[in-house]
Amino acid sequence: MGPTARIDLSALRHNLQRARELAPGSRVYAVIKANAYGHGMLRVAPHLAGADALAVARVEEAVKLRQAGIDRPILVLEGFFDAAELAAASHYRLEVAVQQPEQIALLHDNPLSHPLTCWLKIDSGMHRLGFQPDAVEAAWQALQDDPSVDKKVRLMTHLSSADDLSDPATPTQLALFSRFADRFGTECSVANSAGIIGWPEARSDWIRPGIMLYGASPMLGQTGEQIGLRSAMTLQSRLIAVNRFAKGSPIGYSGSWVCPEAMSVGVVAAGYGDGYPRHAPSGTPVLLNGQRVPLVGRVSMDMLNIDLRSQPDAKVGDPVTLWGEGLPAEEIAQHAGTIAYELFCGVTQRVQFEETNG
Ligand SMILES: Cc1ncc(COP(=O)(O)O)c(C=O)c1O
Repeated sequence: MGPTARIDLSALRHNLQRARELAPGSRVYAVIKANAYGHGMLRVAPHLAGADALAVARVEEAVKLRQAGIDRPILVLEGFFDAAELAAASHYRLEVAVQQPEQIALLHDNPLSHPLTCWLKIDSGMHRLGFQPDAVEAAWQALQDDPSVDKKVRLMTHLSSADDLSDPATPTQLALFSRFADRFGTECSVANSAGIIGWPEARSDWIRPGIMLYGASPMLGQTGEQIGLRSAMTLQSRLIAVNRFAKGSPIGYSGSWVCPEAMSVGVVAAGYGDGYPRHAPSGTPVLLNGQRVPLVGRVSMDMLNIDLRSQPDAKVGDPVTLWGEGLPAEEIAQHAGTIAYELFCGVTQRVQFEETNG
């Protein structure tokens, strides 16, 4: 007996539609890197047919999609890192981000028979990948001059702080990027989910929603539900023991939580071996039979404990939701000092996946 991750395919379609409503003039790359944020890349890709294209981080992810027969445009957000990856990008007709001089050199040294679609990535302030503003002009020219590159070079950047509407970093990034967009007059892509939700100016030719497709909000202080999204993953398990303890009984490893009175404590079959965060503290909610109940004591590898004082009828076999429908992953993430992205990506191999569709 262990947890199940129920993937609601209709929620994915709904969330994609929500991104489209927010940016009606934009085309959409559905971001399905990192195994579609833990939801299963090959499982979800066919259900995101409403997107214009797909985006992944790495060439090997895109190759997996092609080998599974997926024939839609695919953008590789980090681009290629050696001649073999470049050859694969060309062979599989991938679109690539070009974000550093080493990639321009690889293109120069490895002529291709079919021109590659390239997105020149500008570092507008994220300071992770991308050409610095003073190197953009030369990079643009080098790509224009390279016969291996499709002449319709496009421009992209990535926002560092769009989740916080009061952070001046975003207007600064947008202003810097728009200088180059005006200068080169080509197709542009700026917005991740937070850009789509919070920054109308970031909704340019192409948007790149990731986390919002899965139903979680990237915005500070706002859940996905509040912005019209539906949870695509519900992590569920069951109560596997109901125990009665005397006042003062320590619960679980190190006895970090002690029963304040004589009470029942339940054991749920879910732990960090399934991807439930070990750092979720006492008080983190779960839903037992649809009712909120607090976790108590340390999360262990296969199990966690819950306070049953409010649930006198709880019994072995009762269903427990760890996050998802009715319990936003963002809320659990906040308790555990992380983000919903990490919870989704962390669901482990032993968890059973099942799909619903409506
Ligand atoms: C370049 C790029 N674009 C878009 C996304 C999607 O971001 P989000 O999941 O916040 O929508 C990511 C994810 O980190 C990314 O790295």
